[in-house]
Amino acid sequence: MQKINELLAANRQWAEELTAEDPQFFERLSEAQDPELLWIGCSDSRISPTSSIGLLPGEMFVHRNVANLVHYSDMNCLAVIQFALEVLKVRHIIVCGHYGCGGVKAAFDDSRFGLVDNWLRNIQDVMHKHRETIDKEPDYDAQLDKLCELNVIEQVANVGETTVVQDAWDRGQEVFIHGWIYRIAEGIYRDMNISIGSLEQLDAFRSKTFTKDGSLHAHY
Ligand code: CO
Repeated sequence: MQKINELLAANRQWAEELTAEDPQFFERLSEAQDPELLWIGCSDSRISPTSSIGLLPGEMFVHRNVANLVHYSDMNCLAVIQFALEVLKVRHIIVCGHYGCGGVKAAFDDSRFGLVDNWLRNIQDVMHKHRETIDKEPDYDAQLDKLCELNVIEQVANVGETTVVQDAWDRGQEVFIHGWIYRIAEGIYRDMNISIGSLEQLDAFRSKTFTKDGSLHAHY
């Protein structure tokens, strides 16, 4: 870990480099933000959302929490989505999970870490719902990978179920929800081929993706 003053020196260098390339960059940023994307991802330190997809400050609104969860009662996440849609008018929401997620693993292993266990209960619900699908995987690692994928799929659906997103669709605002998953060992994101832009698409996504008993139709 660098000393704190080294971090500040690195920050000055970063700002100087950006300013050298584009002298008005920070001045322009200070006036307004106009992102087209909202990112909902895991807090994992090994992921740098904005820079890893070639974006600059100002181009993506970001919300992160342990295991990229969208709880219906999480005022923090809901407020971010509402602000992003109603004030910033973002067109795309990307829910991004990752393989090897510590939060997903803790839920899968039923480990005890304290307060955070309550936050992760949501993943155990995903696990119980899709037990059959997960059990079809040959070994522990593959089962954990599958749960990481299923968690993204469920959180994408949760975003679509929020009143703020459904209100936006009702207003005729274009909003698409996507699901991505990141493999830390490669540094690469994979699009899970989810794109939901209406209530009808959300319903179709649910019926296309899951059978009535909760197992998966499609193999992601
Ligand atoms: Co994680």
